[in-house]
Order: sequence, then structure tokens, then C-alpha cells
Amino acid sequence: MAKQALRFFKNRRQVLLENIPADRTLLELIRDDLQLKGTKEGCAEGDCGACTVVVGRLENGRPSLHAINSCIRFAHSIQDQILFTVEDLKQPDGSLHPAQQAMVDTHGSQCGFCTPGFVMSLFAMYERYVRHDLVITREQAQTDLSGNLCRCTGYRPILDAACRMPDYPKALLSHEALVACLSQATQSLPEALPLAQVASFYFQPKRLDSALMARATHPQALVVGGATDVGLWVTKRHDHYAKIIDVSRVQELCSILETSDELVLGAAVPLSRAFAVLKRHFPRTQEYLDRYAGLPIRESATLGGNIATGSPIGDSMPLLIALNARLTLRSATGMRHCAVELFYTGYRKNLLAADELITEISIPIERDSFVLAYKLSKRRDDDISIVALALSMTVKAGVISAIRIGVGGMAERPTRAIATEEKLRGQLLSASAMEDAAQGIEKEFTPISDMRASAAYRSQAIGQLLRRAWLEWSAP
Ligand SMILES: Cc1cc2nc3c(=O)[nH]c(=O)nc-3n(C[C@H](O)[C@H](O)[C@H](O)COP(=O)(O)OP(=O)(O)OC[C@H]3O[C@@H](n4cnc5c(N)ncnc54)[C@H](O)[C@@H]3O)c2cc1C
Ligand code: FES
Ligand code: FES
Repeated sequence: MAKQALRFFKNRRQVLLENIPADRTLLELIRDDLQLKGTKEGCAEGDCGACTVVVGRLENGRPSLHAINSCIRFAHSIQDQILFTVEDLKQPDGSLHPAQQAMVDTHGSQCGFCTPGFVMSLFAMYERYVRHDLVITREQAQTDLSGNLCRCTGYRPILDAACRMPDYPKALLSHEALVACLSQATQSLPEALPLAQVASFYFQPKRLDSALMARATHPQALVVGGATDVGLWVTKRHDHYAKIIDVSRVQELCSILETSDELVLGAAVPLSRAFAVLKRHFPRTQEYLDRYAGLPIRESATLGGNIATGSPIGDSMPLLIALNARLTLRSATGMRHCAVELFYTGYRKNLLAADELITEISIPIERDSFVLAYKLSKRRDDDISIVALALSMTVKAGVISAIRIGVGGMAERPTRAIATEEKLRGQLLSASAMEDAAQGIEKEFTPISDMRASAAYRSQAIGQLLRRAWLEWSAP
């Protein structure tokens, strides 16, 4: 396989590596190529956080640092970015970083597998909150550390460490120096399309027309957003990909447009950003969205990737269906639109042609609608749904004038509970109408039994989630 050079910054120095295969993971690069063994491999599937590192990029001219799972990221994805591993935290005078010192002082330091990952997530929190004199609450610490697992428990002192970080003298990290590195990198960006005969490449276009041209020229190349699904095909299935088109830096796909009546989210917007906007517009979805994987996954995964993967238990889609979201699909020769629920043609199958990309997700804003979403999973945090239900309802003079219900885990694809919606539309909103609808939704689908739950459990659970929506609606 032909190999490609990679440039990034580490500890204020430029690193240039030749001959890095397109599908080499960032963790392989760190441990094997750079010989830095502080970053660990636990699960190799984005679940445990042992491999957490922090990457920095420029956002609106300011450095923005994000904790990510290096085990399922491709090495080339950090081209021209800054990489921090646990080896970089030592302060210039040799003392520990506040994230490390707080772990020592609260007795949060545990085994050599989970601790470096926890420390890197704490470092990202430090830069997000302490650097800007923002308070870290225990609840925030729990949300931000939800992607780091310890099999032996012992979370309390780690949460103490997170809240204790502001008590130490400020760590030295010159944001001006970060900006200087990153600005220098973004100035030298040749965007050479991979030629048709090229056998191997990792192409990371900045412009949509380049991405679409590459897609047209190499329809068999693997499209990648955050690689939180695709990375596992490499680490778990041991697939190899010689041609990769990484759309995560396409400017048009990274934008968010908010008008008074519509939200337009670029398909490569990371979930952490997309969810922040959704939570602001639909505040009652906060818990639902915070329970999507752990923060390092949400920092990498994109909305377009979640939709394209089309898992029947994917979490964005029930909410997007309830919100009446519409997708824009583009190729080099045209553009079309479709509703999220009409995008799927079967189990993980969709309408996307070999030369198309999902480019935008448009969500109408209905001012007077009430939006709720619930996820049921075996573990509260960092776990995939058993079933999910999202509902958007407008009630006028006590009557349900509009309702949309999206469900996950009830069919081979994310779907809409049309029969239940019809039952409720035009009804006086009441306990008996909702009970009737809850009994109806239990029978509307024929879910499967699998390792997560039996079909009977799923049917009962989806009814209970609708009952819960009523209780929340009617609560004083
Ligand atoms: C530990 C862990 C926990 C997870 N927890 C959850 C969870 O709680 N809920 C949940 O729903 N999912 C979860 N996932 C699944 C995963 O995070 C999502 O499916 C994710 O959103 C995929 O987005 P991505 O950008 O990483 O996609 P990628 O892995 O980059 O790509 C996935 C697929 O989408 C295609 N694709 C990507 N972008 C585009 C585009 N713009 N146009 C066309 N095709 C595109 C790719 O070709 C590929 O087929 C979890 C995954 C892991 C590893
Ligand atoms: S090794 Fe477990 S998340 Fe990466
Ligand atoms: S996994 Fe490290 S102490 Fe539990």
C-alpha cells in the first residue's frame, strides 16, 4: 500500500512523519511510531477511555482543545493540528499539571491503564473551564468524564480531583503559541485531489467541491467523519482501507446556521457542537443528548456519520424524526432532499448513491412545540440504547394539533410511530388519551430480541416511555 506523509505539532514542535498508511490509527502512531507508551490501549473500540488524548485546532481564531479516543481515530485526521499526550503535561519547572496533582492529592490515581486517560480528560476539562475561570460542578465532571471507565470503581476521588483543579496555581500553556502553530499550519494547505489512478490516499478536503469531486472520482473510497464507527471496522474486524476521504474539515459541512425558523447543521459538525445547539433550542432533550456515548466520542462523531451509519438503535435519528428534520444529499452533479425517516431503505441501508454525501441536516423550529426524548440503556452512561423515543407535540386549547414520534430499537431502522401519532392527533390531551396511545405504541412494532433486550421488553418499554412523556408534560 502506498503511504503518505503526516505533519502535526507536539509539545510546541512540528512532527513530520513519512509513510503513514491511510488507515493507521492515532494510537498506533503514538505508541509504535512515536514510542510514547503513556497512552494505553484498553478496549480498542472507543469505550473505555484508556487511549484518551487531546487534540487542538483553531475555531474562530481561537485554539480549541478536545479529548478524543485515539484507538479509533485515524492518524492522518490530526494533520496540521496539535496533539497532547500524557507525556506533555509536565510543567516547565518539572512540577505536575494541576490535573495530575489533583489526582494525587485526592487519591484518584489508580491503575496504569485507566489513569492516563482520566488525566487527559481532566486536562481537556482544565482548558475548557479552569483556563477561563469557570466553575466545574460535580455534575459537569460526571458528564465530561463519562467516556473514561474504571472496571474497579473508584470514581468519587476522580470527581473530587476534577472539582479541585482550580485550587492550584494556573498551569502554563500559551494559547498565543498554539495559535501561532495552528495559523502557520492552516496557511499552507494545498488541496490536491487524488488522481483516479492513485491506489492509496488519505484525502482531507477543506472545500465541498473538492470532497464531491473526490467522491465522484473514487466512489469506492471510504468516507469518514469522526471514524467512531469506521475505526472499529479497522480495530475489530481488521479491515484495511487504502483510500479514505475524510470530510470532517470541509468548511461547508462544519457550519451551523440558526435563523428564527430553522436550524441548519452541517453534516460534519461534531456531535458535541450539534447537541449544544439542540439543547439550547429543545432544553428537555439535555439528558438524552448527554447520554449519547461519552464526551470523547461526541467530540469526534459527526451528525452526518450517525445518520449515514443508520443503526436502528442510533440516538440522533429518533430525535431528528420527531423534529421533522430534512437531509440534503449532494453529488458533484446535483442535490436532493429527503426526510430523515425516508432516508432508510432497510437494515443499515439508505438512499445515498456512491458519489453522494450527506451535507446538511435542516430542522424547522416550531416555537410552540414541546420536545422530549428518552433513552433506555443497560448502563446509564456511555452505552447504546435498548429503545429510544422522541416526541414533538403542539397542544392548542387542550387539543393535540401536531405530533411526531421517532423511535429507535423497535424496527430494522430508525422509524416514526405513525399509527400512534394518528391516534393522538386531534385528541384532547389527557391521561386516558396518552394511556390509549401507550398501549397502541406497544403493538405498533415488531421488534427483535437480542443481547440487549427481548422483543417483549422492548414493546413494553416503548409504551412506558410514552407514559413517562405524559407524566413529564402534566407535572406541575
Ligand atoms: C464507544 C462508542 C459509543 C457509542 N455510543 C453511541 C450512542 O450512545 N448512540 C449512538 O447513536 N451511537 C453511538 N455510537 C456510534 C457512533 O458514535 C455513531 O454512529 C457516530 O455518530 C458515527 O459518526 P462518525 O462521524 O464517527 O462516523 P464515521 O465512523 O466516520 O462514519 C460512519 C459511516 O457514515 C459514513 N459517513 C460519514 N459521514 C458521512 C457524510 N457526510 N455523508 C455520507 N456518509 C457519511 C461513513 O462512510 C460510514 O459509513 C457509539 C460508538 C462508540 C465507538
Ligand atoms: S482503548 Fe478503550 S477507548 Fe480506546
Ligand atoms: S481500570 Fe484502572 S483502576 Fe480500574
